[in-house]
Amino acid sequence: QDPYKVCVIGSGNWGTTIAKVVAENTNNYPQLFQSKVDMWVFQEQIDGRNLTDIINTQHENVKYLPNIKLPENLVANPSLLDAVNDADILVFNIPHQFLPRIVQQLKGNIKKTARAISCLKGFEVGKNGVQLLSDYITDQLDIQCGALSGANLAPEVALEHWSETTVAYNLPFDYRGEGKDVDHKVLKALFHRPYFHVSVIDDVAGVSIAGALKNVVALGCGFVEGLGWGNNASAAIQRVGLGEIIKFGQMFFPESKVETYYKESAGVADLITTCSGGRNVRVAKMMAETGESAEYCEKNLLNGQSAQGIITCKEVYEWLSTCDKLDEYPLFTAVYRIVYEGLPMKNLPDMIEELEYFN
Ligand code: NAD
Ligand code: 13P
Repeated sequence: QDPYKVCVIGSGNWGTTIAKVVAENTNNYPQLFQSKVDMWVFQEQIDGRNLTDIINTQHENVKYLPNIKLPENLVANPSLLDAVNDADILVFNIPHQFLPRIVQQLKGNIKKTARAISCLKGFEVGKNGVQLLSDYITDQLDIQCGALSGANLAPEVALEHWSETTVAYNLPFDYRGEGKDVDHKVLKALFHRPYFHVSVIDDVAGVSIAGALKNVVALGCGFVEGLGWGNNASAAIQRVGLGEIIKFGQMFFPESKVETYYKESAGVADLITTCSGGRNVRVAKMMAETGESAEYCEKNLLNGQSAQGIITCKEVYEWLSTCDKLDEYPLFTAVYRIVYEGLPMKNLPDMIEELEYFN
């Protein structure tokens, strides 16, 4: 096996951070990886200059990850097809609403032997029901895809403050053997850093479900924080949320393992960190404090970044509604109704309790 060529698809707050992690490692392991990492950038102009030109000359993503020096072997590429050309490992890292358009463009334009890791947090809800994004990538592109998720607020990882993460990957049917194909060892080498500790497991479903749904719970925490109710209320939302996350996994993805939710960084640790200081919590807090819509707060607070819980709570609501299971998920339902139907946040305790009572 020649050294793997790695491409990161996405260059937002987390996309750029993971690209930094990966490029540091490709530089460290020349037998395993080609040093140069292409990072696909959705092109935009900053003060009249291409963002890609700024990244490639200043080695800084001034819009999505300011004040963080990026390795010089990380190359920003505005052409998706050029970035993925000949890549053996594709690391997907974009807000998940953009994924369908990107995979359409990738069809027929990637190596048949490529392997992928999704760092996205969300679901695809469509004619196939609710789908993990890794499964969606596999279905659409016919390549094996795992998931990376953990308690990883990007700005902290970018500053190289210690954190943990979980990578989940199953060997594909056409696995070519140790030393010839991507396996758990290769993935550990690609993502593990002294400040970013990786545990590699095989529960792709558990890792993905926890990562997607904690964003919905975080909105609930933001509401009670914005109402000024303090830590007890936030802990209550997290308690109910964890229960609904586990129930969702068991009900719709029985292959997921309950222990992933409480043992892995992708489980309860990510729930705690996101509910403490993530973008979803900040957007929801601003909604509570100002009475403005989720869309308005996201736009005004995040400078082009995205709070994925806003979309995920809609996807989850639509799916639960299709399955006639809304009353078994009172928190997820309440968060949707607050965001999209304008129900008063102060009714959150009743919305949760009332529905629990009738179960
Ligand atoms: P982000 O929220 O910073 O989003 C901005 C990115 O979206 C930019 O790269 C921008 O160019 C891109 N974009 C805007 N319009 C686009 C379009 N039309 N087509 C394609 N791209 C477009 O993104 P992020 O923080 O890198 O998040 C990526 C994924 O990682 C999400 O699923 C998120 O939940 C997850 N995640 C984020 C963090 C974090 O702390 N930021 C941590 C862990 C996981
Ligand atoms: P936010 O998108 O809410 O900032 O959460 C980031 C995250 O996923 C931390 O692990």
